[in-house]
Parts: sequence; structure tokens; C-alpha cells
Amino acid sequence: MENTKPCKLLVTGGLGFIGSNFVRYMLNKYPDYELVNLDKVTYAGIPENLADVEADPRYRFVKGDITDEQTVNRIFEAGVDAVINFAAETHVDRSISNPSQFVITDVYGTYVLLEAARKFGVKRFIQISTDEVYGEAIDSPCLETGPLMPKSPYAASKAGADRLAYSYFTTFEVPVVITRCGNNFGPYQYPEKLISLLITNAIEDKPLPIYGDGQNRRDWIYVTDHCRALDTILHAEGIAGEVFNVGARQERTNLEIAHLILELLGKPRQLLTFVTDRPGHVRRHAVDVEKIKQKLGWQADTSFETGMQLTLQWYKEHQAWWRNIKTGEFLAYYRKHYGLN
Ligand code: NAD
Ligand code: TYD
Repeated sequence: MENTKPCKLLVTGGLGFIGSNFVRYMLNKYPDYELVNLDKVTYAGIPENLADVEADPRYRFVKGDITDEQTVNRIFEAGVDAVINFAAETHVDRSISNPSQFVITDVYGTYVLLEAARKFGVKRFIQISTDEVYGEAIDSPCLETGPLMPKSPYAASKAGADRLAYSYFTTFEVPVVITRCGNNFGPYQYPEKLISLLITNAIEDKPLPIYGDGQNRRDWIYVTDHCRALDTILHAEGIAGEVFNVGARQERTNLEIAHLILELLGKPRQLLTFVTDRPGHVRRHAVDVEKIKQKLGWQADTSFETGMQLTLQWYKEHQAWWRNIKTGEFLAYYRKHYGLN
């Protein structure tokens, strides 16, 4: 999409972790852009995440569901240049205990947005997919051309949406671009995911639950680097129909991460608690990022260690944010899932 101004963006799932970082990043960078944030405000959608931009006249929040055609069409009728679809159910563990909402939101919701994009026309539709669609990275980091072998209902729903988006390019010429990013970390991550859970539990002197032997590895990227990659993809010419992996080539085992967090917070290793493994637990996720580097000149520039320092600092300084979340719904989920208090 050309870097023409003004530009109207529809961001879905903007009250979540990556979406809220992206909205803030774009409003800061592009003074002439207008953003509509369509978010259902599920347990993971936290209005406070964007409290600082609520009054900005360039920003509009719509509380609604991406599966609701009427709401989606109403937004498109008012004009949308580009869609960035973050909205999804995102937690692998929850997809194992209760898959239905993952299929509904992640697949059907993406279909509703694609249909609106087809009907009303857009200059770009970025489908935020994930490296989890590849399944195991067995010998080497996964390439965009590799097979999709998702192993959880979450990953499989995202793979469905990923390929559905592609089909809207091949069949209806909707200018879709699909991104498959590795594991993000940073401010505003809901404290059910590994890094945000371990940091907040460690601050609270609670056990740090580690699945299996702790040797599973993920490819970690600091969230701001991801936002920058999406900005690059949003404005790049001639890439409709393409898939881009996004990552920082920073693989770490879960145990390495847990040790680092305990060390940086000065907490004892006795807090580590090995718990029952996740069914279908992917041993290794990792993505090859040569394509985005070569074709779009993007690469991550925050090291894992710097990102961890920034993230720890943020969680130390925003204790009210996560302490408030770690009550009610979260606590019920946590106790049931881990059998811990
Ligand atoms: P998140 O769970 O923090 O936020 C998801 C947001 O989507 C929430 O604000 C929620 O209210 C909203 N939402 C859920 N269902 C909705 C619906 N039906 N209609 C409208 N809004 C709805 O997720 P996240 O970690 O920020 O991930 C954002 C996107 O990035 C997802 O598509 C995810 O699959 C993808 N992704 C995440 C990671 C990661 O490491 N977090 C990595 C790669 C890709
Ligand atoms: P997670 O943050 O749930 O992301 P994903 O499963 O989508 O990659 O988990 C990251 C890794 O951490 C994964 O190997 C599972 C592991 N993990 C634990 O060991 N303990 C936990 O409590 C959680 C939430 C995750």
C-alpha cells in the first residue's frame, strides 16, 4: 500500500497485547492516520491498555465482534483503506480445554472480515497469522514455503484463517498479506503467557509452572520489533498474496527464560515448579526470516536480553495493571489449569 495520507486503518483486537502496542506505535508515527479499533473485549481485551489514546480524535473504539457482519459492514461503509486483523482467541492451553471459540473467532471471524474487504474494497488486508501454523520446526527454522502442520486447536484455527485469507487473494483479488510471527513478549501481555506469567509470579513469590522438562523452545521477538515489521508490510508495494515470517532468531528454552527471570529479579530457583506437560506440546517453534530481510529490508533490532530488561521494568512499574487482571476470571482459570494457588 502506498504511503499516501490520510489513511484509515481498521485494527481488530486492538485492546489485546500486540494490537494495543501497534495502535500506539501507529498513532505516534503517523499524525495523519485514523484508526478504528474493533474489539469484543474478551477476557484478554483490556480497555486500560489504550486508555492513553482514548481521547485522541484520530482514534475510535468500537466494541464489537469480528464475527458480527452488521458491525463489520458498518465500519467498512464509513471507509477503510487497510485492515490489520489481530483479533483472535490466542492461548494454546485454553484452546485445548475449550476449542469452539477458537474456531468461531479465528476462522469464521476472519471470513467475515475478508468478505467485507471483498465487498467494499481495501488497499491491504494483513492477516496476523503465527509461526504455530507450521507445527514443529524439526531440523531448521521454518520457511514460508514449508508445510503447515499445526498441533493445537489454536494453531489449526489460525492455519485455517491463514489459508482462507490466501484464498481471498487467489479467488477474489483481495490484497491480502499474511504474517507468521514468532512468540512476542513485552508490555501489556496478558499474564497467562509464559514470560508475563513467570515475571508476575516471581514478583509475587509464587511458583513458576514449567511444563514437561522445560526444554521446549520458542523463537522470541520484542513486541515493538513486530509492530515495526507490520508497519513495513503495510506500506510495501507489490506483495499482495505473499506470506512473511517475522522473527528475531532468538531461540530460548523455557527453562533458560525461567532462570533468567529469577536471576534478574533476585529470586530463588526453588520457585521453579515442574507441572504436567501440555498435550501435543510443540518442542520447537522457529522461523527463517531471510525473506522479509531480503525483500523488505526489515530486521529486528531489540536483543532478547534488552527486551527482557524492558519487559521486567514495565511489569515492576505497572503492578496495578496485572494485579487487577490476576483476580476473578484469571484466578479461576489459573487454579483449575495448574492446580496451584
Ligand atoms: P491477545 O489475546 O492479547 O488479544 C486478542 C484481542 O482480540 C483481545 O483484545 C480480544 O478482546 C480481541 N478479540 C478476541 N475475540 C474477538 C472477536 N471475536 N472480535 C473482536 N475482538 C476479539 O492476543 P495477542 O497476543 O495480542 O495476539 C494478537 C494476534 O497476533 C493474534 O491473532 C495472534 O494469533 C497473533 N500472534 C500472537 C503472537 C504472540 O506471541 N502473542 C505471535 C504470533 C501471532
Ligand atoms: P505460551 O506463552 O503459552 O506460548 P505458545 O504456547 O503459544 O508458544 O508458551 C510458551 C512456552 O512456554 C511453551 O513451550 C509452553 C511453555 N509454558 C510453560 O512451560 N508453562 C506455562 O505456564 C506456560 C503458560 C507456558
